[in-house]
Amino acid sequence: MKILDGKKISNQIKEEIAAEVAKMRENGEKVPHLAAIIVGTDGASLTYVGSKVRSCERVGFESTLVKMPNTTSEVELLKKIEELNQNDDIDGFIVQLPLPDQIDTQKVIMAVDPDKDVDGFHPTNFGKMALDMSTFIPATPFGILELIERYGVETQGKHTVVIGRSHIVGRPMSILMGRKGFPGNSTVTLTHSRTKNITQITSQADIIISALGVPKFLKAEMVKDDAVIIDVGITRVPDESKPKGYYITGDVDFENVSKKASFITPVPGGVGPMTIAMLLKNTLLARERHRSLD
Ligand code: GUN
Repeated sequence: MKILDGKKISNQIKEEIAAEVAKMRENGEKVPHLAAIIVGTDGASLTYVGSKVRSCERVGFESTLVKMPNTTSEVELLKKIEELNQNDDIDGFIVQLPLPDQIDTQKVIMAVDPDKDVDGFHPTNFGKMALDMSTFIPATPFGILELIERYGVETQGKHTVVIGRSHIVGRPMSILMGRKGFPGNSTVTLTHSRTKNITQITSQADIIISALGVPKFLKAEMVKDDAVIIDVGITRVPDESKPKGYYITGDVDFENVSKKASFITPVPGGVGPMTIAMLLKNTLLARERHRSLD
């Protein structure tokens, strides 16, 4: 069994990005600038966004964090998005999801300028991704592809089972693993909460990508020998004995599944850090595209 070490690979990617940014500075060029909007005070979202902003500083990007209260109206948020769309200093930005109930997430995604949509959530970018056109690939799926590529995990002709059909992970992942090229060329089954006989399906999988958010959902009995296991779940489980009052766990029963797997991602330290590294990569790409318009 080999660990797909997202922490290590994400650090390598950040070093590569930092070297590019250093070159930009030396040449007197503008460096990439990422902005993040967070609405409300959800603990996990604040942690993720904080980590994104700190990573920007680490690679030499400029960053802006826009914190808006939980009571923010849809109109106020759309106005802020338009401000960032118009601000030529900002190369890319994200609106952290989920949003409070009074805000229509689809309207928000549609409001972001596709050229600054480093999350790759806008329908223009999602459509381009599905059509194999050059675009921003959503950071979590992009990070999984990068891990597969850097570890040389074979995907061609393999049966990939994706668990979860979210717009952020499961749906794009199912498209990307089936497309021509590497990583890709696999035969994909997309499973979800209404799937029957899921064990029958997962136990035939060569590669399982689980993005469900149910702690320890994937058990050893559901997995065949030598399968590749990618765990996208990050759930906070309350536990008073821990300093933070919770611990983080994935969708996979790591202790038992790892004994059968050929490759497996840990949680934490697997897909999570890759997501941040690929967001930075998308922001660097956004800067490079904008440079041709400067
Ligand atoms: N919430 C969970 N994952 C993500 C992500 O990749 N981007 C944004 N904007 N929100 C998220």
